[in-house]
Amino acid sequence: MSFTEEISRRKTFAIIAHPDAGKTTLTEKLLLFGGAIQTAGAVKSNKIKKSTVSDFMEIERQRGISVSTSVMGFDYRDLQINILDTPGHEDFAEDTYRTLTAVDSAIVVVDVANGVEKQTEKLTKVCRMRDTPIIFFVNKMDREGKDAFDLLDEIEQKLSVRVCPLSWPIGMGSRFKGVYNLYAKSLVLFNPHGTQDEGDLIIFEDLADPDLEKYIGETPARELRTEVEMVETVYPEFSREEYANGNICPVFFGSAVNNFGVKEMLDCFVEIAPPPLPRITEERVVLPEEEKFSGFIFKIFANMDPRHRDRIAFLRICSGKFERNKNYRHIRLGREMKFPNPTAFMASRKTLLDEAFPGDVVGLYDSGNFKIGDTLTEGEILHFKGIPSFSPEQFRYVENADPLKQKQFAKGLDQLMDEGVAQMFIRQSDGRRIIGTVGALQFDVIQHRLESEYNAKCRYEPVSLHKAAWVHGSAADMKEFLERRKRDIGKDKDDNWVFLAETGWVLQTVQEAFPNIEFRFTSE
Ligand code: G4P
Repeated sequence: MSFTEEISRRKTFAIIAHPDAGKTTLTEKLLLFGGAIQTAGAVKSNKIKKSTVSDFMEIERQRGISVSTSVMGFDYRDLQINILDTPGHEDFAEDTYRTLTAVDSAIVVVDVANGVEKQTEKLTKVCRMRDTPIIFFVNKMDREGKDAFDLLDEIEQKLSVRVCPLSWPIGMGSRFKGVYNLYAKSLVLFNPHGTQDEGDLIIFEDLADPDLEKYIGETPARELRTEVEMVETVYPEFSREEYANGNICPVFFGSAVNNFGVKEMLDCFVEIAPPPLPRITEERVVLPEEEKFSGFIFKIFANMDPRHRDRIAFLRICSGKFERNKNYRHIRLGREMKFPNPTAFMASRKTLLDEAFPGDVVGLYDSGNFKIGDTLTEGEILHFKGIPSFSPEQFRYVENADPLKQKQFAKGLDQLMDEGVAQMFIRQSDGRRIIGTVGALQFDVIQHRLESEYNAKCRYEPVSLHKAAWVHGSAADMKEFLERRKRDIGKDKDDNWVFLAETGWVLQTVQEAFPNIEFRFTSE
């Protein structure tokens, strides 16, 4: 197979959802279709279930699962599909944001009864920032939920997207008869008592055909005809180009747990979802077809086995061919590295790989050389854009609680920050470390992991902080700003200047007082 054929047969995407919408169930069905797993229940949920065991145990369980499900690759109809998993818990949202920088498209699962929920909104927004093509899967049609038109209105309004239904539900809950596949012009009948099979699929070009009544009954047939007519007038016609540009989002309806409507979506997905896309770097746009290899690290897992200080860094390949044992340049460290044991992730099975192509994710064993966002190339200096740190929402001072373990404490904190567990700022006026996180759970994660992996203890103290903003400006402006706001200045782990605003009011007045200073709320 030629290099360009290898690229065009890859589809790398993420499934995102608010917890409980059915992401795990849908992932599992996709893997079953791909023959990557044989039985249902093989994909473990990465949800943190607080009620069952203690939080720490949950965190460990979740980390264990996260490694094996981080990337699930499988073959389907001559294609190589790579599903990138995203954590379910909202406190780990930042991890999800970073994963979304490594995909070329996304499937968003929406629960028909709950509609657009908080995490759906947050995560879709991140996709929209990058114009990532999105397909919606409205799940749980076997249950009563919102009216399909109302739900699509809600999606359009809350998520600022334009939708284009490619399947249409026939009833819902106990009256659910199936879907009409507008893309393939076929009727797919729902069998609530068993597995769906080929006999339930009827090619149905013309809805005016009186046979429709025979299959779904009189009232549903009448309703379906009227609704499909409305769909055709209200929503834009599907266009691949508009989807690829992120301008319209196809919608499918189904029931993941009943394996219904999933295959229709998958078959459409493999046809329309984009192959590996160009990536933007600070220097230039990198095309997947370029001969020379380049890629970036978007995720790191450390210390899965406490006896070995092993880390796995996840590399997304952006251009060229990656080869085992070949020398590549680690741009930030400015030195050559080679990888004797790179791994491929084929649906919870790790295998050694000799070569990998754009769109693939490779696991690199690492002894502490990588940070999130690091670039590997064949020599060219490139910095991939779009691996942002977001301004954290919760802050605490962190102190070493065991004076004999100062070294372990500092090293542990450093490595956990490299992994992207949270962000750390050093306040310049007093040198104190401040941890900033997206959710409260990360504070427990840090404390627990420092103890179990680094044999170090930490203590938190409250700090009154509202926001951290990265600040930029000309040398003269920055000098004056740093001098005058000395008390509120910190540095992040990469030595960037950060303004630590005590309150929203302080932030606003300082922004007004220093119009030449730019305040950024992501580090991108
Ligand atoms: P998540 O990864 O998005 O958090 O959701 P997950 O797939 O774990 O699904 C959440 C719950 O919703 C599960 O039930 C799952 O069985 C159920 N579910 C998924 N798809 C459908 C569907 O199409 N129809 C209906 N009625 N339910 C669906 P659970 O009771 O929380 O867990 P379990 O014990 O069934 O695994």
